[in-house]
Formats: sequence, C-alpha cells, structure tokens
Amino acid sequence: MPRRFNTAGPCRPERHYMLPAALRIPQFRGLVDRQEYFVVHAPRQVGKTTTLAALTRALTREGTYAALLVSMEVGASFPGDLGAAELAVLGSWRADAAYALPPELQPPPWPEAPPGQRIGAALRAWAMASPRPLVLVLDEIDALQDEALVGVLRQIRDGYRRRPEQFPCSLALCGLRDVRDYRVAAGSEGRLGSASPFNIKARSLTLQGFTRQEVAALYAQHTADTGQVFTDDACERAFELTQGQPWLINALAREAVEELAIDPREAVTLAVIDAAKDELIRRQDTHLDSLAERLREDRVRRVIEPILAGEALPQISVDDLLYAQDLGLVRASAAGGLVIANPIYREVIPRSLASDEGRIAERTAAQSMTTPAGRAVQLVRA
Ligand SMILES: Nc1ncnc2c1ncn2[C@@H]1O[C@H](COP(=O)(O)OP(=O)(O)O)[C@@H](O)[C@H]1O
Ligand SMILES: [Mg+2]
Repeated sequence: MPRRFNTAGPCRPERHYMLPAALRIPQFRGLVDRQEYFVVHAPRQVGKTTTLAALTRALTREGTYAALLVSMEVGASFPGDLGAAELAVLGSWRADAAYALPPELQPPPWPEAPPGQRIGAALRAWAMASPRPLVLVLDEIDALQDEALVGVLRQIRDGYRRRPEQFPCSLALCGLRDVRDYRVAAGSEGRLGSASPFNIKARSLTLQGFTRQEVAALYAQHTADTGQVFTDDACERAFELTQGQPWLINALAREAVEELAIDPREAVTLAVIDAAKDELIRRQDTHLDSLAERLREDRVRRVIEPILAGEALPQISVDDLLYAQDLGLVRASAAGGLVIANPIYREVIPRSLASDEGRIAERTAAQSMTTPAGRAVQLVRA
C-alpha cells in the first residue's frame, strides 16, 4: 500500500510519511538507563504516542529491556470508581503487551488485589516475572481524573523505591500536563510528599513542533514516493500557517495531494496550501473540532478572549495560562507576550467562539419565550 500523510492517530512507518520518531526525545535512553521516573507532556497531536511507541519498540528490540507503551485511556470511563478503572486499564495493558511484545516478555496473570492497589500489584508482579528490566510508558495519563489519578500516582510512588527488582526500572507518564499539575492533582507536595517521583521539574520533557526543515523533509518523502513536488514557498507557507504543529502539517499536505492537486505531475504550490487551509477550517476537521471543544471551558476563555481582543492579561491566574499553553492553544511570542499558537488556530478560534455564542443566543431566545426573562439572562452568563 502506498504511504500517505497521516491525520488519524499515531503514525505507522509502513503506512505513513514520517519523520524519524526516536530523534524527537533524545533524552529518553539516558533516563531509562538511569532508572528514572519522568513525565513527557505536550499538547494533543504533537506526536507523543508515535514517538514513545517507536522508542519503546526499538528498546525492546535491542534486547536489554522489556519496554512497552500502555494506555490509561479506558480508565476514563469509570470516574469515581478507581477499582473498576484499574481493571479496565489492566485489561487494555494485556492487549497492548500481546500486540507489541514477544511471548517471553508477556506479563504474568494479574494478581488479585483490592481496589486502589491493583495497578501497583500488577506492576510489581510484572517486574518480578520479567526476564528483563521492565520499562513502561503510561500514555493518556490525563484520562484519569481526581481520585483515580491520585490513586494511581500513589501506587507508583509507593513502588518506585523497590525498582528495578520489584517495580518497573523506569517509567514515564505521558499526557498533556506538566509534572507540577500531577503534583497539584495529587494534593500538592503535602499529600504526595516531596519525594514523589513526579515532582522534579528536570524530569519533565516536552515535544516541540516540527521545524521548517522538518516540514520540507516530510513533504519530500511524498515527492520521493510519487514524484509530486512541493514548491519551496508551499513548504514555507505550511510552516508559517501551522508553526510546525505536526497534525496540521500532515492535514494540509493530505488535503493538498488527495483532494486539490490529485495529479502527481501537478506541483503543490503556495496557492494549493492556502486552499487546503481554507478547506480544513471550513470542515473543522477532528483536531480543530477538539480544539473548539476546549473553548467551552471558562478557564480557557479567560485567557483566549483577551488575547483575541488584543488586551493585556492582568488578572489571569498562572494556572489558567499554563493550562492554555499545555493545550497548545497559545504560545509565548518573540516579543514576550502571549499569542494564539498559529495562524490556523487564530482563524478557527474566533469562529468557534462566535458559533457558540450564536447557539447560546438561540437557546436563550427559545427559553425566554417560555421562562421569565431573569432566567434567560442567567443562561447567557452560565
Ligand atoms: N514522526 C512523525 N512524523 C510525521 N508526522 C507525525 C509524527 N508523529 C506524529 N505526527 C503527526 O501527529 C499526529 C498525532 O500523532 P500522535 O502520536 O497520535 O500524537 P499525540 O499522541 O501527541 O496526540 C499524527 O496523526 C501525525 O499527523
Ligand atoms: Mg497520543
């Protein structure tokens, strides 16, 4: 099957044009060798899963470690029920292991353990049964909230001191938020303790977007496979519009070569990239749609609205700012202020805010016919 630009989930080298994943987190190997527990955080669709899956796959193949990326995602379906979340998560870990690890590195049957101790007991049993030191990446850690997140962090913290013999020798949490937020979620230093494996800033890594050169290199893979050229100014325009956001880079190119310039003898020019951008925005593709979803959160709007209005941000809390930054919505500008992360978001965000306001206004108009006016006003503010 020919390769294409990927816009749906993690990349697979045999199916997708792809920049070498391992180079994106060069510190990974050193952290594993030093038996560190650490956090990898970056906004959605920057390539966390692609990169960490490639790194763990390569590490296992080398033969020294049993390394695997597993996901906490299914835990999200059981808010407020840690025991059930643990069982669901452990079920998915077993499937991940069956898929990615050779038979001799499969985990043992998970031991019986009471709710709140199941993840820790499983990690212990697995590390003890594994013929090689165990290295795990827990992806989608943000899927867990509040009690469930705290419960899992506590179990990891508790086992940490028994590594590498009786707990994974190295472990990474992967999600949107930085270390400090897990500490906050876990009730600050006081409750999780300052010896938490997840409260040391030096052990928090992030992933950057693609550089200009990387964008050109990715697009050149398509040229190598099909002969279809991206002009230099098309590559430059794609970078400028996306500021290197990996999903957007792929989405523009895919729209360009699969919908707009279908004949590979036709070059992808700046005008084609611009048309692709307009089409992505018009369609509000998945990534843009999930971005719009975030704008419903008050703490996000508190940051975004003044930036759009070109106002200063005097009373915004640092937490709100960091949150908007972790989501990838805003970034620090060269001049030192905050700006919307890239021109495509800059176009999408005001539209979604406007359409939300439109919907609220419609609902309010409908409500005000049937309820007292006071209630309608409240709805607008809510
Ligand atoms: N190494 C890569 N080369 C090219 N594009 C990539 C690469 N890694 C990620 N991407 C792009 O980013 C998108 C999201 O990747 P994914 O690994 O699922 O990110 P995350 O886990 O951060 O949400 C992919 O669908 C693809 O468009
Ligand atoms: Mg991911």
